[in-house]
Amino acid sequence: MITRALCRSFLKGALLVAATLSLTLILVAPGHAETQEQRNERMAWWRDARFGMFIHWGVYALPARHEWVRNRERITNEDYQKYFEHFNPDLYNPRDWARMAKEAGMKYVVLTAKHHEGFCLFDSQFTDYKSTNTPCHKDLVKEYVEAFRAEGLKVGFYYSLIDWHHPDYVIDRIHPLRPVDKKDFTAENFAKLNEGRDMAKYRQYMKNQVRELLSNYGKISIIWFDYSFPGEFGKGRDDWDSAGLLKLARELQPHILVDNRLDLPGEGDFATPEQLSAAELQKKSSGNQTGWETYRDWETCQTFSGSWGYFRDEKTWKSNAQLLTLLITSVSGGGNLLLNVGPTGRGEFDYRAKDRLHGLAEWMHYNSRSIYGCTEAPAEFAAPADTLFTCNPKTKCLYLHLLTYPADGKLMLAGVADKVAYTQFLHDASEILVEQGTDAGAKDLTLKFPADKPPVEIPVVEIFLK
Ligand code: GLC
Repeated sequence: MITRALCRSFLKGALLVAATLSLTLILVAPGHAETQEQRNERMAWWRDARFGMFIHWGVYALPARHEWVRNRERITNEDYQKYFEHFNPDLYNPRDWARMAKEAGMKYVVLTAKHHEGFCLFDSQFTDYKSTNTPCHKDLVKEYVEAFRAEGLKVGFYYSLIDWHHPDYVIDRIHPLRPVDKKDFTAENFAKLNEGRDMAKYRQYMKNQVRELLSNYGKISIIWFDYSFPGEFGKGRDDWDSAGLLKLARELQPHILVDNRLDLPGEGDFATPEQLSAAELQKKSSGNQTGWETYRDWETCQTFSGSWGYFRDEKTWKSNAQLLTLLITSVSGGGNLLLNVGPTGRGEFDYRAKDRLHGLAEWMHYNSRSIYGCTEAPAEFAAPADTLFTCNPKTKCLYLHLLTYPADGKLMLAGVADKVAYTQFLHDASEILVEQGTDAGAKDLTLKFPADKPPVEIPVVEIFLK
């Protein structure tokens, strides 16, 4: 009797544990589930890092007028071939890239192993359309991986789902060979254009290449699949076999982080709001990535200018202050920034990119403490106008970023006087004097600044909490 009762209660207990566990299990790919704790562990380095480098590089660096040049100018494979034949990045030295990324404070990197043009920067067995067959004769991915790893950055790959070169890739509404006139976008016309093309073969091609990328280059921390555009004459999860790709990635590199562009519901480890303004990020407005604001983890990807690939004549380059504001805004909202460089056809970062990276390096040298390991500030700390808070919960420090230097030398933090232990400028650890109490309330704290703005693009106040 006793044993049976014991058994029964044990069984009940076991069921309870199982039920609780299954409640907290998250399905991260078909056949791959993890608990919230496991997920937190997997994401921990990325949440701390906050800042990464994106690199868009391909033969589109030669036309140098956007990585979508094939789409924009409707260029056929034959006409695009001249760029492949002249691709010779003789100055390519990824150790220089890695050093610049590290100095700028970036902790991880994502390179386009293949972009929409279909060109592979690695020595794939499954295509001839690869860097080893151009005049440079190099597996560019291999050198990249080694160089960035040597500088201590985590290494990732971007892999384009879209492929405008592959003979089996079905022509869709954004393909260079689409009908010229939108009114000719009919099922019949697309069927005619697509005679002999077989997406099943292309799906297999992608799997083969993802397997190569995630097997031949050691530990890969991130894979960025890009991108889905479901709907009429578009492509989505069934066209890619997104579930299969995700499963494969998780099998080959169980710790890997995957973006959210495979068109799988609730998918991915992080959302990817692209090119949103600082104001949009701050408001968590949907922008071009509906639903990103519902993600616990997100990373905004941004260009220095309007293009991802090297664009010689593009003039809309962001200033250092704008770039820093994007970085700080991301961290203050609990997100990451992936900032893109588009190297030239010679294999170097162009002078404008170098200049911006240098500006970031200068600022990060003094202020990275307000970025790494930081996130949103507790709600009771309301940021005064033209400032942004970040917070390091482990060290119990708040960081107040002065986007505009206070003209009257003062800034009031409402209602928090009894929470603050000490305040200083972050760049030189010089004390910021405070005054407690204002007309509004005894708990207000007024920070008093020197009349001259310190020589820091965006000065930061480090606030030690009690
Ligand atoms: C877009 C573009 C692409 C770029 C990417 C980066 O999806 O197609 O050129 O690689 O965004 O996020």
